[in-house]
Amino acid sequence: MDALEMLFTRYSCREFQKKDVEEEKIHTILRAGMSAPSARNMRPYHIIVMKDRNVIETISKTSVGKNLMNRANVCFAIVGDLNINPAYEFVLNDTSSVITNMLNAAHALGLGACWCGQRRDDDHLVKDVLNLGDKQFVAGFIALGYPAQKKEQIDRYDEKKIHIDRF
Ligand SMILES: Cc1cc2nc3c(=O)[nH]c(=O)nc-3n(C[C@H](O)[C@H](O)[C@H](O)COP(=O)(O)O)c2cc1C
Repeated sequence: MDALEMLFTRYSCREFQKKDVEEEKIHTILRAGMSAPSARNMRPYHIIVMKDRNVIETISKTSVGKNLMNRANVCFAIVGDLNINPAYEFVLNDTSSVITNMLNAAHALGLGACWCGQRRDDDHLVKDVLNLGDKQFVAGFIALGYPAQKKEQIDRYDEKKIHIDRF
């Protein structure tokens, strides 16, 4: 699939086959994440590859939106690190770019993935489980696996959201 087709057809996959994702594909997804743009190229993030079912289950119970992590084959925690760049906004921007690249790469590889959001107020629920430091936080999780569902994307182009020169 070409790059534009990949962008236009990606969808959030929430049902997964009971089939392992190959290490090579996980590696490619990690590389794609780290190819994302980054403010001053500081790359203030770490990526935790979560395979331990106990850890995944514990995290999946911390919010309704994360339930699906329990059905995934492997999950990732994308961790923002304020020790590397203290500017919170940029760390959030950078980690979001990492997540987006990883989701797109997963789709390009024929896998299904879903971004599972992490609210700042709930930081304390996941920090200890993942052994994070004071200045580290989970920007988001990704649930990954071979898809057990297929969704057709509709074209979301919306003329009303486009403004020329000023709002
Ligand atoms: C910041 C963010 C947080 C999200 N959190 C969740 C989540 O916790 N659980 C979930 O099932 N989907 C989550 N999603 C996926 C969105 O629901 C999904 O992207 C949206 O409905 C559009 O559907 P699509 O990805 O299939 O195009 C999240 C997406 C973003 C960008």
